Amino acid sequence: MPELHRITAGGVALVVDTSGDDPVVVHWGADPGAVEIDPALLLPAVARSMFDEPVRPSLLPQLARGWRGRPAVRGSRSGRDFSPRFALTGSDGDAATLTLRLADPEAGLEVEVRLALAPSGLLLVDSAVRNTGDAPYSLEQADVVLPVPAHATESLDTTGRWIREKHPQRRPIQQGTWVRSGRHGRTGHDATAVIAAGTAGFGSRHGEVWALHLGWSGDHESYVERTAGGDTVLGVGELLKPGEVVLEPGGEYRAPTVYAAWSDAGLDGVSARFHDWLRARPSHPTSPRPVVLNTWEAVYFDHDLDTLKELADTAAAVGVERFVLDDGWFKGRRHDRAGLGDWLVDETVWPGGLTPLIEHVRDRGMQFGLWVEPEMINEDSDLAREHPDWISKPGDRMPIDWRHQQVVDLANPEAWQHILEALDAILSENAIDYLKWDQNRDQLELGHDGVASTREQTLAVYRLFDELRRRHPRVEIESCSSGGARVDLGILARTDRIWTSDTNDALERQTIQRWTELLVPPELVGAHVGPTESHSTGRVHDLGFRAITAMFGHFGIEWDIRQATDDDRDRLAAAIRVYKAQRDLIATGRMVRMDHPDPAVQVTGVVAPDGSRALFSIAALATSANEVPLPVRFGGLDPDRAYRVELALPLGPNAVNERTGVAWTDASPLLSGRLLGVLGLPMPILNPEQALLVTLTADA
Ligand code: GLA
Repeated sequence: MPELHRITAGGVALVVDTSGDDPVVVHWGADPGAVEIDPALLLPAVARSMFDEPVRPSLLPQLARGWRGRPAVRGSRSGRDFSPRFALTGSDGDAATLTLRLADPEAGLEVEVRLALAPSGLLLVDSAVRNTGDAPYSLEQADVVLPVPAHATESLDTTGRWIREKHPQRRPIQQGTWVRSGRHGRTGHDATAVIAAGTAGFGSRHGEVWALHLGWSGDHESYVERTAGGDTVLGVGELLKPGEVVLEPGGEYRAPTVYAAWSDAGLDGVSARFHDWLRARPSHPTSPRPVVLNTWEAVYFDHDLDTLKELADTAAAVGVERFVLDDGWFKGRRHDRAGLGDWLVDETVWPGGLTPLIEHVRDRGMQFGLWVEPEMINEDSDLAREHPDWISKPGDRMPIDWRHQQVVDLANPEAWQHILEALDAILSENAIDYLKWDQNRDQLELGHDGVASTREQTLAVYRLFDELRRRHPRVEIESCSSGGARVDLGILARTDRIWTSDTNDALERQTIQRWTELLVPPELVGAHVGPTESHSTGRVHDLGFRAITAMFGHFGIEWDIRQATDDDRDRLAAAIRVYKAQRDLIATGRMVRMDHPDPAVQVTGVVAPDGSRALFSIAALATSANEVPLPVRFGGLDPDRAYRVELALPLGPNAVNERTGVAWTDASPLLSGRLLGVLGLPMPILNPEQALLVTLTADA
């Protein structure tokens, strides 16, 4: 084993100094080539009033090595062994992976950290803490911490709330710790997509950026920390409650996988690492993403077979391929106060079961999808009346209600088995292609037998998904959580789509999708054309803006299109034809988010990996400070190819009127990728909340 161990893939390198007994990541970023340097030359200075040896953030930053930031591993044996001194005991690896084993025999602890660079350049970190002592050890936290260089001076994370997920927030990195904690018992609406640090002013397409993501759907923390010593680190880890993880002698805690991306091409480069890695998974959906119609904003709880059949007919006529029956089909579920837990078809509303609707849908060539919320229970349900002890609680007291519902204690094996069999029965007895799996409440006080159980619950939920998928491998599953409150790579390991947000307001969606897609590739990001007047904001948007916004995701409809005008239905059908022609590109291309100089305009694109074609939307989010729109540049194209530039949407004669128009929208010119990237094209005047969709096709 060399003293400076370098692993490399996809143009990224990680260099670990293993010359002493305290492994230190000395570099994560651009590949420096062979690191032929004496590790001692990389040691920092020692100040006069300081520890008498150089201090660096160890692979496991720890008090015993002089680290005055957050220690990576925290815990104790009733107060003892509070400060382990981990020393390297062994390591192995190859060109792209490195496993390091560390131990403190006196404290009775061992840690194993596996660092693996995927071909996309995404770094995966898996770690475990073992109790080798002879008394129980209470673990408080086990973080993964990676250093970033001092020239990373700004941080970025995302936050949000219901119907407003994934909004970015940026700050200068100063001494101290900026921590994003999630105590929702689920990922959370405010959960950050990544915790990132970058060079001054880094943007979508420029600057160096380092970013971490925790693949976990329970409580979590993400932070950026700069010490007075001058070190900057990024850290993430599961957030544990007191007593939640007590390792018996020989016991082990396995931390959720941490994903780390470095880019010298701004945030688009970070996305490329995540998207490439996700797309390379054997489980990644590769069939063309079907156009969805979801019934929620069309009929809500008002289920009626004839109405739904009519909706299915209308859906099939405009080109829908997957019809999803949302909440309201099961026993007692006439409103959101009752029924959760009773996963049987409501015979009063569905006297013939779901089969008549399913057959109607399938006869029209569409797949059938069904909504479930398996982790939840209404107190007004047969399940709660029969098994009141199956409700997760901190002790004897009930947690506060949220949407009138509580949580099934899935750490209870009987409750878990019951829910599994109920779901299995639904899928076995009905011809169902797709489940929309919802989770609609924060769960702050999850408890099993009086002990905090967020971790146990999260693992039990994962096991439920895994077993159901094993039994029904052809059923696709969407992860929904009051919109986008469960968007993380832990849930995405077992699902095929996320519901991004409960808002279908296209203006809100422009921002939410842009920042969700920092992490998640668009083909997994549910995006629906909602009603003309948004149910979440009351805004009224033209169909063109709604359809172009939904195009950069997994396209669907959530609108009672029986009530739409004939003209709107024709335009919707036309937009669906455009989506179907472009969806392979959307599912495989590189995301391009231009750093457009006008904050009122958002330019989003996808460019085919071979540069043969691209799709861009130009969306006016607000009124502009400029009388006349600034030219839009198209990034990511092959500079040496010529592209035919065509307006794909809106369609129709008045789409871009003469007075506000520009010549190229009619001329469909053939222009070089270099010119389009450097000069760009002038834009027609758009009203706020209007958009254009442009296709660029390389000349054969
Ligand atoms: C949540 C989901 C919605 C819808 C409702 C049904 O809010 O995010 O899409 O399924 O539940 O109750």
